[in-house]
Amino acid sequence: MKWPGIIEAYREFLPVTDDTPIVTLEEGGTPLIRSPRLAAEIGADIDLYLKFEGANPTGSFKDRGMTLAISKAKEDGAKAVICASTGNTSASAAAYSAHAGMEAYVLIPEGKITLGKLSQAMIHKATILQIDGNFDEALCLVKEIAENYPVTLVNSLNPYRLQGQKTGAFEVCDQLDYAPDHHFLPVGNAGNITAYWMGYKDYYNAGKIDSLPKMIGFQAAGAAPIVRGKIIKNPKTIATAIRIGNPASWKQAEAAAAESQGRIDMVTDDEIVTAYRMIAGLEGIYCEPASAAGVAGLIKLNKTGYFKSGDKVVCTLTGHGLKDADFSLTISEKPASISGSMDELVKALGF
Ligand code: F0G
Repeated sequence: MKWPGIIEAYREFLPVTDDTPIVTLEEGGTPLIRSPRLAAEIGADIDLYLKFEGANPTGSFKDRGMTLAISKAKEDGAKAVICASTGNTSASAAAYSAHAGMEAYVLIPEGKITLGKLSQAMIHKATILQIDGNFDEALCLVKEIAENYPVTLVNSLNPYRLQGQKTGAFEVCDQLDYAPDHHFLPVGNAGNITAYWMGYKDYYNAGKIDSLPKMIGFQAAGAAPIVRGKIIKNPKTIATAIRIGNPASWKQAEAAAAESQGRIDMVTDDEIVTAYRMIAGLEGIYCEPASAAGVAGLIKLNKTGYFKSGDKVVCTLTGHGLKDADFSLTISEKPASISGSMDELVKALGF
């Protein structure tokens, strides 16, 4: 059967009616990849799976929320949407708005989003404004615009975004046939961990699963307001997607961690890069640096003896590595150049 996108796949759990015009790029249905080589390399006796959200139409998990936010905006008669973004939300908002025939306005921190993401928003014809400020400042501005002008906010403060994103949890349970013991995620604006927890609870209440995972979120150490218990005015990390100092869903993310007996912790940029290399080199999955924060956290917790033998563990890899190819080039070995003769080739290959 043709995959219909997350709204049709999970309609009974979502706030849509027969009158809602469904705007979809057939997002969702992403791979849940068993990753035994990574587990073995870090010495963890666990059953590990990576949920690769880079396989969504615009290359990140944002598409799950955007299909619903844009469909509902269209149902309400909106002609335009607006968001602040560290890159992925703007790419997704631009693509779904184009598909719906709506305008998208995006505010981004100048020089702090990757070229891959910027190029997506540009080619989908969003109106892009780069501000001399960070994501948190951009979010304050767009919130006020949406309150005062005829344009719908599609950041995760829009409740439909998290409703759509919770389908990531449904898919994990459908793919495994049970709920994992632990679910790891990177945390930026803190919407996704909130959404996954909603999804797991919905499935539990519907009798589709008989246990709930511990929700475990990881922030980058230079952008870890929740862990440090205070707003970070000037967040810093190479993981630009999660360079956020005052998350919108701060309290909800704390509640998800507390209710599930999980936690929110942090990892350094070095730990993120180590995990990023391992995911690509050991499992063949290319994610962006921010996406590796959850796996970096798993490696960190494993060293403390956190897991029980045989634990089922899922990490969400939130975005595709091609979005930040520049970063992977800067940390990879340069390819060798050879003349093209067979002799030289055989020598270079080491045969
Ligand atoms: N990973 C990636 C690749 C992201 O783009 C984001 C957030 C996160 C993780 C964190 O998710 O905010 O729900 O805690 N990106 C937003 C954006 C902020 O504007 O694209 P979160």
